[in-house]
Amino acid sequence: MDLKEKIDKNNLPAHVAIIMDGNGRWAKKKGNQRIFGHKNGVKAVRDTVEGAGELGVQYLTLYAFSTENWNRPKKEVDALMTLLITTINSETDTLLKNNVRLLTIGDTEGLPKNVKEKLNAVIEKTANNTGLKLVLALNYSARWEIVNAVKNILTDSKKTDINIEKINNEYFEGYLNTKDIPDPDLLIRTSGEFRISNFLIWQIAYTELYFTDVLWPDFRREDLYNAIINYQQRERRFGKISEQLI
Ligand code: FPP
Repeated sequence: MDLKEKIDKNNLPAHVAIIMDGNGRWAKKKGNQRIFGHKNGVKAVRDTVEGAGELGVQYLTLYAFSTENWNRPKKEVDALMTLLITTINSETDTLLKNNVRLLTIGDTEGLPKNVKEKLNAVIEKTANNTGLKLVLALNYSARWEIVNAVKNILTDSKKTDINIEKINNEYFEGYLNTKDIPDPDLLIRTSGEFRISNFLIWQIAYTELYFTDVLWPDFRREDLYNAIINYQQRERRFGKISEQLI
């Protein structure tokens, strides 16, 4: 039986989130510059998006650029921004052909103008697609998102009185970037690091975590299948006990 057949189609994670890590180390191992790793990371993105869409995963969120990534050398940041544009350009037709809808989370206002414009154009072009929703986290950090939510709640409270009793999880989630997106069922981090790195901190309260040593440029749909098979062997109790789940 091949890997794909081992996946139970009735128990797919609706939302898979990925911390794509290890591009720099992959390049270094090959005696190349870090950007060579990022460029090869795009191949992994392509294969993973295709694989997830084909399986019927509903949401795939990729951590493509964190708020903290601005602190990398300018040369690398510039190269990453250029890579984003070239990738959006080269992949738009495939997204359309595969019925993929592009969305973003993060402070996209803080991205360079040309990146913002490209992204908005593709978000608009793919807005009616009904297949996989590909969510790119760009200039994103979970702490930024949470602080931003608090700021927006306070701003709104100046316009209309907010009853403090009304503030609960659902209310707060309405102010997060992910407000119309279900929490991830499965979070994958590549490259053998065991960290969350400021990604979706609120949303992963009950997410299943999966870590693999594979460096992101080597990640392919088979690695996604392995993660999903592993996920399907777990019992998600959400604070309850096993007997209550039947
Ligand atoms: C982490 O590896 C990777 C990034 C910060 C960038 C991810 C970008 C891509 C995969 C390419 C573009 C993506 C899209 C969606 C078009 P790292 O550089 O931290 O690796 P290291 O830990 O080995 O140094």
